[in-house]
Amino acid sequence: MYTGSKHFHSYVAYLVLLLVAIAVLHAVLSLARKQPFTPASRKYALFGLIAVHVQLLFGLLLYFVSPMGFSNFSGEAMGNSLSRLYMLEHPLMMLVAATLITIGHARAKRATEDARKFKTIAWSYGIGLALIMSRVPWQVWP
Ligand code: HEM
Ligand code: HEM
Repeated sequence: MYTGSKHFHSYVAYLVLLLVAIAVLHAVLSLARKQPFTPASRKYALFGLIAVHVQLLFGLLLYFVSPMGFSNFSGEAMGNSLSRLYMLEHPLMMLVAATLITIGHARAKRATEDARKFKTIAWSYGIGLALIMSRVPWQVWP
């Protein structure tokens, strides 16, 4: 269970970074070129959102089966930067980023102007991606 979910979480992480980055790039380029919001634009944003939600769900599962997650929570582990990253900073920051991306997706869907849709996606997914990248355990991954 632990090994499987760890591998899955490790692979889906590539998808998250790739699909969210593509959604941001597409939004920024379309804005710059004043292009309309097409069905493809909607899909870029949707696929980024789905990757993030799948990662969120399995990250949550991993948190409770990993020896580096919830079971490691202690004052002592707080003093170690890698332990603190896994048990606290990584899950919390990823939750904030996923919330931001989900709100951005919903707001873009409701917006009526195409430029407003792209701007909403560019900002929310862009900041979300920066937050995600700030708490990926780069010491051990990829
Ligand atoms: C949504 C974006 C997320 C991304 C991109 C992401 C990415 C990663 C990566 C790249 C690793 C290292 C994997 C490895 O060592 O091979 C990792 C580990 C981990 N993640 Fe996430 N994660 C995300 C969300 C979450 C969430 C929401 C939680 C928990 C609620 C979580 C819990 C964990 C735990 C506990 C580990 C350490 C597992 C271990 O080594 O035992 N992650 N994550
Ligand atoms: C921890 C688990 C999850 C939570 C808390 C969560 C939460 C949410 C929330 C709050 C929305 C808001 C929608 C809105 O009003 O726009 C949403 C949308 C969505 N989620 Fe998740 N989700 C989770 C897991 C998943 C998984 C596992 C998948 C896919 C396999 C998924 C796919 C989607 C899709 C496709 C949408 C919205 C699409 C749309 O509005 O067009 N989610 N989710």
